[in-house]
Amino acid sequence: MKVLVVGSGGREHAICWKLAQSPKVTELYCAPGNAGIAQTAKCVNVKATDVDGMVKWTKDNAMDFVVVAPDDPLALGMVDALEAAGIPAFGPRANAAIIESSKAFSKELMKKYRIPTAKYETFTELDKALAYIESQGAPIVVKADGLALGKGVVVASTVDEAKTAVTEMMEGKKFGESGSTVVIEECMTGPEVTVLAFADGGHVRPMPASQDHKRAYDGNQGPNTGGMGAVSPPPQYTPEIAQRCMEEIFLPTIRALKEEKRPFHGVIYFGLMLTPDGPRVVEYNARFGDPECQAVLSLLDGDLMDIFLACREGTLDQADIRWKDQAACCLVLASGGYPLDYKKGYPISGLEEAGKSAAVFHAGTAEQDGQIVTSGGRVLGVTALGDTLDGAIANAYAAAEPISFQGMHFRRDIGHAF
Ligand code: AMP
Ligand code: GLY
Repeated sequence: MKVLVVGSGGREHAICWKLAQSPKVTELYCAPGNAGIAQTAKCVNVKATDVDGMVKWTKDNAMDFVVVAPDDPLALGMVDALEAAGIPAFGPRANAAIIESSKAFSKELMKKYRIPTAKYETFTELDKALAYIESQGAPIVVKADGLALGKGVVVASTVDEAKTAVTEMMEGKKFGESGSTVVIEECMTGPEVTVLAFADGGHVRPMPASQDHKRAYDGNQGPNTGGMGAVSPPPQYTPEIAQRCMEEIFLPTIRALKEEKRPFHGVIYFGLMLTPDGPRVVEYNARFGDPECQAVLSLLDGDLMDIFLACREGTLDQADIRWKDQAACCLVLASGGYPLDYKKGYPISGLEEAGKSAAVFHAGTAEQDGQIVTSGGRVLGVTALGDTLDGAIANAYAAAEPISFQGMHFRRDIGHAF
């Protein structure tokens, strides 16, 4: 099969790396890809958000299957457009991807189907939002409704902080139209875990749980990032909790979406908080998380292409999905300054050496005059396995040692921060 993967980050590199191992995949392409992905797939110069351009390229080049990995093209209806053109695609249609693109929608869905999540109210008028914050007190959480690159959430420890946040979102349009509707919710406590699950409209098959590290600096300090590292599986996610999540969250969510005539085909991301009252949903995403994907797919023993096909065909219950009885750690090496201002174009050394003992997934890299250079905030995801979680963590740090580029920064506490 000729397969195209849409996207350009560490997640897409991990997906390409795994698909390349499938005997079914004879030709692999990635749009737009990056310098690391180019070692496994042919990179195609079409932007991930260019729906018409992607459909055209896919038809012109007779692709058999397209994997749409990032949130923006899913929300824009790229899967719908590909299917309308007769091209099978992996990922939810826009009417199901809305669980990520509208927090107001997903909160309403959870309320209707009694799926455990934080208590909330939705507002489109500033004065009502301010009055609600006043009545609830702090701590309290303020969220912009739409996609805001993971930065539209403020966990406010005082009433004033919450009021400032909501005013900036609704009046200052800090997140553009994403902030014209806000969700204000109860502040939950407890460790956070991610569960990625394959879904085929009716069945759901969870992958091993994982844990992201969203803050930029050690000890969970500093600004939020796209994710500075991930481990899988985290010890807090016990088999008992997994069972509860399946019964109270995963199955009810897939059934709810089917009931609403928005069947979910693809990877659904459950952002969970293990609160003293049980597991609750913090957020849904409509795709693999990044960097979680890099750690979790490293543990997959089966054929990813077969699983993707089963997700489309509704045969996921019969799919052969096996996981290594090991642990994984993905350590993100980022540009100095990320997630704020950072410079690009610095040469990266030590990649070959590191690649001998770990999978080095590229997130923000480019090729310049035959040299691989930095081209994004998150640059690389060094992903290693181990027989124990501590072993995997040690292996990832050891593998990353030879890698360097100007300004490189990374967290030293991945896997030990919670
Ligand atoms: P979200 O974009 O909804 O995942 O929120 C980003 C981060 O904000 C989450 O990973 C949590 O750490 C935090 N957060 C979101 N909602 C809540 C909540 N209701 N209570 C406590 N923390 C939250
Ligand atoms: N790692 C969080 C996300 O992909 O949204």
